Amino acid sequence: MTPDAMKALVRTIPDFPKPGILFRDITTLIGHGEGFAASVALLAERAAEAGAQAIAGLEARGFIFGAGVAARLGLPFIPVRKPGKLPVPVLAIDYALEYGTDTLEVDPGAVAQGHKVVIVDDLIATGGTACAALTLLRRAGAVVDEALFVIDLPDLGGAERLRTEGVTVRPIMD
Ligand code: PRP
Ligand code: ADE
Repeated sequence: MTPDAMKALVRTIPDFPKPGILFRDITTLIGHGEGFAASVALLAERAAEAGAQAIAGLEARGFIFGAGVAARLGLPFIPVRKPGKLPVPVLAIDYALEYGTDTLEVDPGAVAQGHKVVIVDDLIATGGTACAALTLLRRAGAVVDEALFVIDLPDLGGAERLRTEGVTVRPIMD
């Protein structure tokens, strides 16, 4: 399946979760077996090319794609979680995203020192979420220089922001 065919499976909902936001919803992509498989396969191909030793998925939508990529490649999966979910001492960071603020947490014990970790999420908008995850993973001792997304919203500048942090950003579609 081509990236254009995958793009046709993503629906756009205006004014969600707030007025003025054009919400790109992957529910319809993952609800299409072939589309879901093709998007995970393409992300996995790119993660393998990047030499990934582990995959970090960003809760919640990044878990859907990241876990698929990690399982496909037989790599460890590192969950970068929303607050209060991990039962151990965590590294935590507050951040802003397109429609609010939140916190991400990671278990430092889940990160092997010096391992190359590739970030996977469904979408990058302002880059607040991905940059927060990058900071946490680097603090935990990971080498992070590649981030993979199903969707980039380039007008919001997130991919450019990540690139200035030395990260190669490869989305399937914009
Ligand atoms: C969405 C999306 C990305 C983030 C992108 O997650 O899955 O993680 O926003 O926005 P940004 O580039 O402006 O940071 P959201 O926080 O809505 O959570 P969810 O995955 O739990 O739906
Ligand atoms: N996360 C941040 N901005 C988004 C958007 N426009 N659509 C879907 N998820 C998002």
